[in-house]
Formats: sequence, structure tokens, C-alpha cells
Amino acid sequence: MGGPIVVVGSINMDLVFRVPRFPRAGETLPGTEFHRFPGGKGANQAVGLARLGADVKLIGAVGRDPYGKELKDGLQKEGVDVSRVNETGVTTGMAAITLSEDGENRIITIAGANRQVTPEDVLAAKELFREAWGVLLQLEIPLKTVQAAARLGQESGCKVFLDPAPVAELPRSIYNRIDYLFPNSGELEALLPAEDDNEARAEKLLGWGLKTLILKKGDEGSSVFSGKDRRAFPAFPVKVVDTTAAGDAFAAAFCYSLQAGFPMEKAIVFANAAGGVAATRLGAQSSLPSKEDILKLQKEAKIDEMDY
Ligand SMILES: Nc1ncnc2c1ncn2[C@@H]1O[C@H](COP(=O)(O)OP(=O)(O)OP(=O)(O)O)[C@@H](O)[C@H]1O
Ligand SMILES: [Mg+2]
Repeated sequence: MGGPIVVVGSINMDLVFRVPRFPRAGETLPGTEFHRFPGGKGANQAVGLARLGADVKLIGAVGRDPYGKELKDGLQKEGVDVSRVNETGVTTGMAAITLSEDGENRIITIAGANRQVTPEDVLAAKELFREAWGVLLQLEIPLKTVQAAARLGQESGCKVFLDPAPVAELPRSIYNRIDYLFPNSGELEALLPAEDDNEARAEKLLGWGLKTLILKKGDEGSSVFSGKDRRAFPAFPVKVVDTTAAGDAFAAAFCYSLQAGFPMEKAIVFANAAGGVAATRLGAQSSLPSKEDILKLQKEAKIDEMDY
């Protein structure tokens, strides 16, 4: 099924400092290592799609600073169309991540230019939405922009996907514009705190017009709730190194597989395998798999090969 996939989302630079322990107030502490990684859920999911071979267009914003340029160049090298990534006068989105030797982290984020991704940017891409197959969204940009993209996506006949992370309260009216919502358990609970369990939450969202809920369950795989269909899909057995971006790999692979024409259950298996591969690798974008990586894991687990 033709047409690009439009990602409307965040772009960040992650600065990672390794420290023996966290500094106290007023203390200057020598760290042991420094790394710089491209991140942001929008950018990660766009790269995930591009690595699988999708035609992906990113709508987003960076600052007019060296990080913004580096991030945009990097996305372009990955095959993401960045012609709709605006350069703004606000700093590029950043995360300062301190990692201590005992494995704990303390993270500060600055949304920066990600706050400048506006409903107007979405409306200016009306023609693109008209030719697009799907729209993939997360919540690291303003909610009103996510709402505008879900609405325009639906009106343009696109499949609309939302990864509700980092979780925020969503207006009830958004759910009937979404074809596939993929929260993890904590996110689903935060979306509907008053309900008793995730089954009740799923039923409620379907009642509000959501077409399909896919609950991501880490090393337990994922569960689908759609119409009368309730099914669980096990995770792939893998040697876990770092689960960062498993969710981003899942989102990209699920969209890609559906666009390739596979039925939902095959797309979920493919997405579980993509998340599994990402869990075996360190980092975010660095761990996003290719089609071959995913099919290899499926083959090892004796799940029949899919012909992409
Ligand atoms: N430890 C694991 N072993 C096997 N598969 C995993 C593991 N962790 C994640 N996955 C696969 O990746 C999918 C997405 O991961 P997860 O449930 O952790 O999503 P998430 O909480 O959104 O992740 P993220 O922290 O990247 O946002 C899972 O549904 C599962 O199929
Ligand atoms: Mg997630």
C-alpha cells in the first residue's frame, strides 16, 4: 500500500555523563565518560521506519544551533525526509542524562524547539497528509499539535497511530481519531486511573471510539484489544542488554508491517520481534533493527518467515 508515513514528533540530543555517584548540592564531581546520542521519540520512530525501508517524512523542529544541524543531518543520512523539520530560534530539545556506576540514572530534559511544533505546521502539510498512508504520533510535542495531526490524518484517510509516551492526560475526543494506540501498562493506567485493571481500561477506550489497543508488556510481549478480538502475543526470548527504544522499534515495525499488507496479528509478531532485537542492543537509535535483523529473530524462534 503506497504513500509515505508521516511522523509528527520530537527531536532531541541526549548528553550522557557517566559518574561514579551523583554529585551533592554545590559539589563538582569528575565524571568517567561522556557520550552524545541523537534521540527524541519522533526522531527514533522515524529512523526505525527508515531502517525498515519505509518512505518517512518527519514534521518537527530543532534550534538554529550546532545540535540542531547535527540532528537534522543525521536523520537525513538515515533516509528520513527532514524538509518539514523547521529551524527555530529556540534551543534544540535536549536531555542531560547522568548514569551512576550502580546503574541508576537522573535525567533532565529541555523540550526546547519541540514546543514549537504547532498545529499550523501540521495544517501546512495538508497535501502531504492527503497522499500519506499513515501518521505516527507520540506525546513529546504539544498536545494540540498531536490533536491536529490525528484529526487531519483521519480526515485525509490515513491510518493514525499513537504511542502515548511520555504519558499525559488525553481528551476523550482524541480516541475516535486513532486507529492504533500502543501504551505500556503504566501508560494505560495513567490514561484511565479510575478503572480497576487494564482489561477494563481497554474496554472503556474501545467504547470511546478507539479502534485497536495494543498493550506493550515488555518481556511478556503484547496484547491486542480490537472489536471482539482479545489476544496475547508472547515476547521473543532474547538476551537483554538495554530495553531503551524497544517501544520505538515496536511502533516503527508495526506500522511498517501493516503498510506492507500483513494482517494485524502478523504485524504484532513482527513488532514484538523488533522490540526484542532492540532490547539486545545498547542505546536508542543505535539499537533500532533492520528487516533482516527482525526476520532472523523470527526464524530462530521458528516463526514462519514473512516475505517483505
Ligand atoms: N526484555 C524483553 N524481552 C523480549 N522482548 C521485549 C523485552 N522488552 C521489550 N520487548 C518487546 O518490545 C515491545 C515494546 O517494549 P516495552 O513493552 O518495553 O515498550 P515501552 O515501555 O514503550 O518501551 P520504551 O521504554 O522503549 O518506551 C514489547 O511489547 C516486547 O514485544
Ligand atoms: Mg514507550
